[in-house]
Amino acid sequence: MSMVDSFEKIPVRIYPDLKEGSKFAAREIADLIRSKQAAGQSCVLGLATGSTPRSMYAELVRMHKEENLSFRNVITFNLDEYYPIDNDALQSYNRFMHKHLFDHIDIDPKNIHIPNGETPKEKIKEHCLEYENMIDNAGGIDLQVLGIGNNGHIGFNEPGSSIHSRTRLVTLDTSTRIANSHEFANISEVPRLAVTMGISTILKAKRILLMAWGPAKTAVVQKSVEDNVTEQIPASLLQQHNDSLFILDEAAASDLTRFKSPWLTGDMEWTPKMIRKAVVNMALKVNKPLLSLTNIDYRDNGLSDLLVEVGDAYELNLQVYYMLRDSITGWPGGKPDLHLPNHPERTKPYPKRCVIFSPHPDDDIISMGGTFQRLHDQGHDVHVAYQTSGNIAVTDEFVTRFMDFAVGFEDMFGVDSKKSNQILETARQYLKSKRSNQIDTPEIRSVKGLIRRCEAKATCRYVGIKDENIHFQNLPFYETGTIEKKPMGEEDVKLTMELLRKIKPHQIYCAGDLADPHGTHKVCLDIIFESLRRIKEAGDDWIKDCWVWLYKGAWQEWDLSEIEMAIPMSPDQVMKKRFGIFIHQSQKDMVPFQGSDSREFWQRAEDRNSNTANLYAQLGLTKYAAMEAFVRWHF
Ligand code: F6R
Repeated sequence: MSMVDSFEKIPVRIYPDLKEGSKFAAREIADLIRSKQAAGQSCVLGLATGSTPRSMYAELVRMHKEENLSFRNVITFNLDEYYPIDNDALQSYNRFMHKHLFDHIDIDPKNIHIPNGETPKEKIKEHCLEYENMIDNAGGIDLQVLGIGNNGHIGFNEPGSSIHSRTRLVTLDTSTRIANSHEFANISEVPRLAVTMGISTILKAKRILLMAWGPAKTAVVQKSVEDNVTEQIPASLLQQHNDSLFILDEAAASDLTRFKSPWLTGDMEWTPKMIRKAVVNMALKVNKPLLSLTNIDYRDNGLSDLLVEVGDAYELNLQVYYMLRDSITGWPGGKPDLHLPNHPERTKPYPKRCVIFSPHPDDDIISMGGTFQRLHDQGHDVHVAYQTSGNIAVTDEFVTRFMDFAVGFEDMFGVDSKKSNQILETARQYLKSKRSNQIDTPEIRSVKGLIRRCEAKATCRYVGIKDENIHFQNLPFYETGTIEKKPMGEEDVKLTMELLRKIKPHQIYCAGDLADPHGTHKVCLDIIFESLRRIKEAGDDWIKDCWVWLYKGAWQEWDLSEIEMAIPMSPDQVMKKRFGIFIHQSQKDMVPFQGSDSREFWQRAEDRNSNTANLYAQLGLTKYAAMEAFVRWHF
């Protein structure tokens, strides 16, 4: 048994990203289908929905089309379905499965089984029993695919579900309803009930593959894999299955002891980064300032190796203290007249051309408003590139109010407003009969986009940015009118390369926040990375002197041990940032598709920034009111 095995009680495979992990899962399924085909047997699959398996289904569809993978011998049973829900409702899992898999493959429709969300209440028990019988009659599930909820649920078996549970009607946890609310117009429309296979139904499967991607799943993956088996974390019950496997991307795996505290799982090379991580995490855990850590603290926390290799606590404490001290600067563009050897940014050139990429029209001010202001005040040539229109996050009420205003404005000044009146009337009629999640007309979408553009412009003026430095990219991947976006396309990359080549920046800031529940930030980041890669490959000269800094979006902050540049803010600067965020009125009080955090954006930003400052202070560094944090990306 290796040291890793002694921590991890479920086998784990880790891939660089979800695409690679999904390909592996799809290959496992395809191999099973083919081997069953060769033996003349049917292959019974248990299937999941949600964002996790989408890429895997896309790969299976590709294999069907390009590699002759046939599904004629496949019988499927889906894990769960909302209740009640129409089978063809936009959010139903029935519709999801057809859209992502069944409509594109040669499966026999009578082999498809999904709990029926239209079953009358009095027939539900019977329906669930029948579902179990159908699984048994098919010979049991050969391979079960699972995702995992942030609270550890598998299927819709919420915390507390019994290990003996079978297919049944359950109530959804509030946390699950909030997590899934992004599929619905708002939380009140998320069903309160669901039909789900039970834990015992799942555990009876011959093989289980659980996939988890992204930082939102990090904590629950660690608990399920390394902590004790408990019904409070249903996925931990998979420790009792003899053929289950977790397929993870690097982000989802990052809390596992082998990554979080690799010194506990075997020999390791102590790089400065690793030393910083180990010492910072230990100081936070024992709640001591860095300079107060003792040899005994190091020994008690599994770091005696470090004492042997690097020196005693006094030396180590100082080394890490200086690293943190040097990450703090009030000069995000570098300090012009003074060369400081360990400063996070270089002094020259001064002034710098900087581009802030903002995935949505308010990410710049929410995530780095203080730094944005400093860059401008310190004389740099700051550009902002708004990557998407953000039109999906404007409510219907808000857009109607603005259209009313436009028509009233024209009336007031005697401008011929026939055309605007017509547009307003059509929009009103449409919105009156609009069903939840129905796509807006192109006119309504344009007006929603215009509202957000005006807000972004107003914020830039508030900071002091000139109009010609404001760039609205309206990247096409975003313009689906629905919460689900297209993947990155050629046009997105082309537009971004053009802009970069026009500005030739010395500094680029972009959102490295991959926990954005809508996935927009991830695509926006991929587009920038791909553009930079191509520009570098083409040999443009300016790129050699271009540094990229990643900020996190509204949902998360960098781990303290990772931060490479921390920009302090005074109480007045915090207030100035707050008012800058307020300018985005369409995003205040209530937004559609809020995600799992019900606080307003300014509250989240202030919490995060003061939390970072408090952590620095807790470690014995100067106490600021707030701090914005950045990590450098080397390409
Ligand atoms: C879906 C299901 C759920 C999801 C889980 C994760 O059929 O049973 O357990 O797997 O809620 O959802 P995503 O993948 O959207 O993060």
